[in-house]
Amino acid sequence: MAKKIDPCTLVLFGASGNLSRIKLMPGLFRLDAAGRLADDMKILSVGRGELTREQWQAEVKGMLDKKFKDGYDQKVYDRFIARNHYHSNPPTDPDAFQKMAAKLGDESVFPQNLAYFLSVRPTDFATIVAQLSGVGLVDESKYWRRVLIEKPFGTDLPSAQALQAALTKHLKESQIYRIDHYLGKSAVQNIMLTRFANAILEPLWNNAHIDHVQITNNETLGVGDRTTFYNATGALRDMFQSHLLQTLALVAMEKPADLKPESIRAEKIKLLQSIRPIDVKNINKQAFRAQYAAGRVCVGDGHGENVHGYLEELKRDGIETSNTETYAAVKLFIDNPRWQGVPFYVRTAKRMHEGNTAISIRFKKAPIELVAGQHQNWLTINIQPRECIKIEIESKIPGLDIATRTLSMDLAQRQKEDETIDSYETLMLNLMEGDPSQYLHISEVEAQWKLVDPIVKAWTEDKSALHQYTAGSRDPHESSVIFESQDQFWRYSIELGGDKH
Ligand code: BG6
Repeated sequence: MAKKIDPCTLVLFGASGNLSRIKLMPGLFRLDAAGRLADDMKILSVGRGELTREQWQAEVKGMLDKKFKDGYDQKVYDRFIARNHYHSNPPTDPDAFQKMAAKLGDESVFPQNLAYFLSVRPTDFATIVAQLSGVGLVDESKYWRRVLIEKPFGTDLPSAQALQAALTKHLKESQIYRIDHYLGKSAVQNIMLTRFANAILEPLWNNAHIDHVQITNNETLGVGDRTTFYNATGALRDMFQSHLLQTLALVAMEKPADLKPESIRAEKIKLLQSIRPIDVKNINKQAFRAQYAAGRVCVGDGHGENVHGYLEELKRDGIETSNTETYAAVKLFIDNPRWQGVPFYVRTAKRMHEGNTAISIRFKKAPIELVAGQHQNWLTINIQPRECIKIEIESKIPGLDIATRTLSMDLAQRQKEDETIDSYETLMLNLMEGDPSQYLHISEVEAQWKLVDPIVKAWTEDKSALHQYTAGSRDPHESSVIFESQDQFWRYSIELGGDKH
């Protein structure tokens, strides 16, 4: 059931940036079309450029035209465009925030509950909050005021804590919404429900029955034009630190007492804090990194395309050499009774043979192997591009002999008539509803950095050249060094067979 939303003004910093053009404005439009915005909700876009409201509305129209090529409902458009206002905030104007306060103070236009979306450079988060606070715009004595912070929340534990300290000078924890867009994906939200809504799964979900878990994010894309950002960040901090550790938390956490935000977060925090710190002395057995070399990748329409290697892309942009990983695979253990001894292999890579995000769980061998060579059961929760759950079981091949083969049950989670909702759409709605359950608590962010920082440090200190993998290939064979036992291997996408080394 739709929750009631207070009338509010969404103040969008970085409104002319890519995220806003591609995801936020179209997402808000779709929420409007679905009747999920409060009647007098307004959007105040804030940008550096000097634009009139009419010029900005024309820009917004351009964003919608680009996104919705098949057109849109004129009535919804008229309603949506009338919600849109613009405020020019040049960094050189010392009174810019005073002027913004004066504009927003007009109660006849702007509802006074304010949700800020900071789609700006991370170095600007704290400054903007301090400036908003300076002009009274985060004061909650009469209305709520919430601030959505885009990722990354810091680049390591000390910087995340420094950012937190800077924000909490002006904001209460309940006002801070730290985003991880993976938590807005419907298939990621479904992990918890699948686990706890099915009585047949819970008894098996532990170290008595599970051999190991793989959490994988593979992309065919390279780093594109984000070379400078990516080279300072790497796969571990870009994908693993938040998106993949959050996915792991949902796979492994205990059942929350209820679906209240604080109950869900409490269980995720407990889980993240129980992950055993990496033993950096043995890092080469626990983590593997590599970079893509030139190769050929599959593009959307199934055709191949020749692509440059990572180091060549950096050279093009004036960066001579680099030890930044575009492939990272890490083995983790969780020190609690449910998971003691079960390895979790978490990997992410750019320029792989396919783009796929999945959780693959291999069950232990059947206690008595009646037929030689039978396979272990797998359960895969595929997050994207296809949302499905797949279970593989062994079955007798009909005929005179006793032999088994693997059968696969493939349960499509998405039916034809289901809505497709972008994760930002869901998360913006949650922000306006005041539901932080799909946002990160500071304790989660801290636990994530605590785990990642020692790996980053060890990798930074190790100056040896990185292993290269051909763009468009599968995991480098050398990555299997992190497996606990020789019969473990990387699982690929959901097709059956042909996916073992
Ligand atoms: C972003 C990373 O957070 O997530 C990108 O910065 C990555 O490097 C992207 O490509 C992946 O998101 P999705 O939703 O396409 O899986």
